[in-house]
Amino acid sequence: MKIVIFGASGGTGRELVQQGLAQGHDVTVFMRNPAAFTGGDHLRVVVGDARDEKAVAQAIPGQEAVLSALGGALGDDTLLPESIGHILAAMKQEGVRRLIVLGASGVWPGAAKNLSAGTRLFLRVLEAVILKKPFQAQRAMQMRIQASDTDWTVVQPPRLLNKPGTGKIRVDGEALPAGGTMIARADVATFMLVQLNNALWVRKSPFVAW
Ligand SMILES: NC(=O)c1ccc[n+]([C@@H]2O[C@H](COP(=O)([O-])OP(=O)(O)OC[C@H]3O[C@@H](n4cnc5c(N)ncnc54)[C@H](OP(=O)(O)O)[C@@H]3O)[C@@H](O)[C@H]2O)c1
Repeated sequence: MKIVIFGASGGTGRELVQQGLAQGHDVTVFMRNPAAFTGGDHLRVVVGDARDEKAVAQAIPGQEAVLSALGGALGDDTLLPESIGHILAAMKQEGVRRLIVLGASGVWPGAAKNLSAGTRLFLRVLEAVILKKPFQAQRAMQMRIQASDTDWTVVQPPRLLNKPGTGKIRVDGEALPAGGTMIARADVATFMLVQLNNALWVRKSPFVAW
């Protein structure tokens, strides 16, 4: 399948690229730093900033699906909503329908209902102290996606780890699975790529965790 990956140089993005190529997809990577990847067989590089509407639009024509693992700095609350606006506009323009995006479970009330009371309290404090802006950005992005007429899936993980993938991914449509407080970026990428050929979670936001 022809796919484009935004945030390809990041932790989850790199996993998406590696696994996507290994699965035989034709991968376009969109990123700011041209040194992060060199093009090759089945790998095309589009250099640009995700806040730049014209640059984003160059990456979409001819794609069968768009994946995003973009993430802004801790103090940033504009990258995600701005960039998804450009992505959605370009998808509409080019008639590309499938969109698979890395979300964040903590931004939705009730996502932690299957976690312990202590963990829920810790997460509330974490949000108030350092995650306020990233969560605002995620919420704004996800609301734009939900309002679009694309075939979207927003994958909602808890804390992301740079550990090897296990393939043991628990999934729940309403909240994080019981006790699910972390997952490897590699496993999130695996789940996102599975969605390329899976209609089960279209226009839904599955929660994933170990
Ligand atoms: N960290 C966690 O525990 C956690 C938990 C749940 C959900 N999340 C969500 O996961 C996402 C981040 O995933 P991650 O930690 O795997 O990613 P990451 O390593 O932080 O990488 C972020 C990616 O976004 C790219 N990016 C940032 N600004 C850009 C811009 N203006 N134009 C183009 N590309 C830009 C970065 O490119 P550069 O290489 O050029 O900087 C990088 O490729 C966030 O949306 C976050 O809300 C994180």
